[in-house]
Amino acid sequence: MQKLIINGGQRLRGEIELQGAKNSALPILSASLLCDGESILYNCPCLSDIYSAIRILNSLGCRCSFSDNKAVIKSGNLEKFEISEELMCEMRSSIIFLGAILGKSKESIVSYPGGCELGSRPIDMHLDAFRKMGVDIKEEYGKIICKARDGIHGAKITLDFPSVGATENIMLASVLAKGETVINNSAREPEICDLAEYLRKCGAKIKGDGESRIIIKGVKKLYGCEHDIMPDRIAGATYLSAAASTGGEIILKKSCINAMESFLSVLEDAGCSISVAGDVIYLRSGARLKAVKSIRTMPYPGFPTDAQAIIMATLLKANGTSIFEENIFDCRYKHIDALLKMGADIKVRGKTAVVQGVKRLYGASVEATDLRGGAAMVIAGLSAEGKSTITGLRHIDRGYENIENVFRNLGADIKRTE
Ligand code: UD1
Repeated sequence: MQKLIINGGQRLRGEIELQGAKNSALPILSASLLCDGESILYNCPCLSDIYSAIRILNSLGCRCSFSDNKAVIKSGNLEKFEISEELMCEMRSSIIFLGAILGKSKESIVSYPGGCELGSRPIDMHLDAFRKMGVDIKEEYGKIICKARDGIHGAKITLDFPSVGATENIMLASVLAKGETVINNSAREPEICDLAEYLRKCGAKIKGDGESRIIIKGVKKLYGCEHDIMPDRIAGATYLSAAASTGGEIILKKSCINAMESFLSVLEDAGCSISVAGDVIYLRSGARLKAVKSIRTMPYPGFPTDAQAIIMATLLKANGTSIFEENIFDCRYKHIDALLKMGADIKVRGKTAVVQGVKRLYGASVEATDLRGGAAMVIAGLSAEGKSTITGLRHIDRGYENIENVFRNLGADIKRTE
């Protein structure tokens, strides 16, 4: 079993280049199977989830290679329209392949992605939308069997909630459909715009991404293209937070300032000094951070749920009381037990968590149970006194390229052991 061993208390200092966004690369890899010909994706992060997506593409008959952050995907007619249960279980986001396979083959069989570490993650909105687009759906023995006997047609779809995955799946199913699809109350996350941008380069007709109504006019064919995956705003939030919580100083290059606005303003409220120039963010944090009165997770452009655990870990030693409200997932406070073990003072009632800043944190042995919760434990370990041991690294490795190297280059005392 691999572990991260951290001897906390070092001020982080230095500069890093931000990795490409996992949550953008995954739907774009899925979209690449809709094309005829070759797509080349640059800045594709080297993560276990990306390897899982590539295994899925290869299993369907695409030919993919991936090295040096460059993924090359050659696609044509699919050899298969079923994803094995084993591959489906490797990552929850595998459901994003359903829309693309349907778009290309008009039929698909996938197994239920099931629950996940953030609580139950239903896909009812995805399936309801596909039904409206002419897809018959049966669920048998945990498999979702989808077939559009008369092809897929455009539809007017109004989402009950601006789900990122449902918006992406509908886009993927509709770009090659007959007629026009309108998604009302669509998610507005920057990763949706990156997917739309890639698809437009391939020949798709999409308008309105980044707003609450996306309109897609189906086309007959899509062709591969070259695309740069956008920077990972949550990895960026993690590195800035770690520097902030250790009283450090960091230059974050190749970042996406607009997409990180809500997060940067919380760090400023906490007393960090931040300046930006082009795609570079400079953060300096000196004295003790200040508590932030209210951090409420919301769909974009609100504060991202993926950064909730990360900023919580950052504010554990802040002066005063910070109040969190988690509005996206039911079960996204699983990191709190580990933070308590490290000396934090946090009380949870329902979707609210109240963090009373403490003077010190202490190293402890903790286990990551989800990706961003694991990153929160690393941040807490970096600003704690003494030694922390973090296990459950398979969660952290889903979202961070060489996390220990990045932090070591910033001056942290951190190593990975078997
Ligand atoms: C994506 C991100 C994830 C992020 C989340 C919210 C990827 C690969 N993952 O996940 O990192 O935390 O957006 O920003 O991009 N819901 C339903 N029914 C559905 C679909 C969703 O009830 O059919 C609910 C979910 O349970 C959740 C909420 O809607 O409570 C938001 O989920 P959604 O936006 O779909 O998240 P994901 O796309 O799974």
